[in-house]
Amino acid sequence: MNINTNFLKIQNNYLFSDIAKKVAAYAAEHPQADIIRLGIGDVTRPLPAAVLEAMHKAVDEQGSPETFRGYPSEWGYNFLKTAINQNDFAPRGVALSDDEIFISDGAKSDCGNIVDLFGTDNVVAVCDPVYPVYVDTNVMSGRAGDFRDGKWSNVYYMPCTEENGFCPALPTRRVDMIYLCFPNNPTGMTISGRELQKWVDYANENGSVILFDAAYERFIVDGDVPHSIFELPGAKTCAIEFRSFSKTAGFTGTRCAYTIIPHDLKVNGTELNAMWARRQATKFNGVSYITQRGAEAVFSEEGKKQVDVNIEYYRKNARVIYDGLKNLGYRVYGGVNSPYIWLKTPDGLSSWEFFDLLLNKVQVVGTPGSGFGPAGEGYFRLTAFGDAERTVEAIKRIASI
Ligand code: MLT
Repeated sequence: MNINTNFLKIQNNYLFSDIAKKVAAYAAEHPQADIIRLGIGDVTRPLPAAVLEAMHKAVDEQGSPETFRGYPSEWGYNFLKTAINQNDFAPRGVALSDDEIFISDGAKSDCGNIVDLFGTDNVVAVCDPVYPVYVDTNVMSGRAGDFRDGKWSNVYYMPCTEENGFCPALPTRRVDMIYLCFPNNPTGMTISGRELQKWVDYANENGSVILFDAAYERFIVDGDVPHSIFELPGAKTCAIEFRSFSKTAGFTGTRCAYTIIPHDLKVNGTELNAMWARRQATKFNGVSYITQRGAEAVFSEEGKKQVDVNIEYYRKNARVIYDGLKNLGYRVYGGVNSPYIWLKTPDGLSSWEFFDLLLNKVQVVGTPGSGFGPAGEGYFRLTAFGDAERTVEAIKRIASI
């Protein structure tokens, strides 16, 4: 009997579990401490009223034999796919068929599960710093090589630094699977259409696949930032896009997301769309009817307005954090097209030293940049998803250090 020994290679727990443990230990030792959590990017605004109403109605339907529904489609109900298509893609000039849209329980699951479609000898390219799921899932599936000096030997790291404006340079060697996330987690920075086009061209020329994580798309305000990679010519033959209702409409606890795999995307003549459809049909039983009706309501007129209000709430928090830290003399990035603020730690502190300082001295929790990769060392991430008053209070506390 053997286990998948790739799991033994993963050195640490999942980043956000580590942080949660540290904070729990601190809270246990200091039961009176009033901790402000700006670490994991978890939303705090409740679900929009339109979503609740749709879900209540769906619950009632499930209680009556005439309207009861059993297993959902493993790929999602057509009513939701059509709403997504008509609202997220058609208005941006992106023509998709509904069967190029797959509904799921989360962009994290999809980003993690997508590796099933790819050979283990592919070279994976990631930004550094990076959302840890992209790397860890490739480690688990045996594609990352060995961990040496803080890096995986078969992973191509693309540093995103102050010098390059946190926008990665094209690889100088051939890579197969390219993970891009814009607006970026963790740096909160974005990419222009002109820059992203270079990646699409690179991928098409090299037969690479771009795994484009657009979970934070709803935060984009700048006109030259693409909302979908499929706005760019040529993207349909080289890209998969991940989207989510989590950060858009407060679904972190409700769970609903969608992944776009165009029929035109083929590797060695095989459609990845068909492979994913087969994978999902085998390993996934779909998202509940109630949840999908709730997600559909995000696109209703009322739903859109209510989502806008929530996004604006978080944008204000982002400005409070960004401006507050800047006024305190910190070097601050992101926070404009994104709910994440990325800051340089002061006085040469390491990311974890700054984490400990904030937790112990002012009881504010953030995410150490080094947890996102070697180039994240010396940086720190704060999220704008908190309560507005508590966010103001957090900045006041940081000012007092
Ligand atoms: C984060 O804090 O980076 C996100 O909440 C993680 C996630 O979306 O899974």
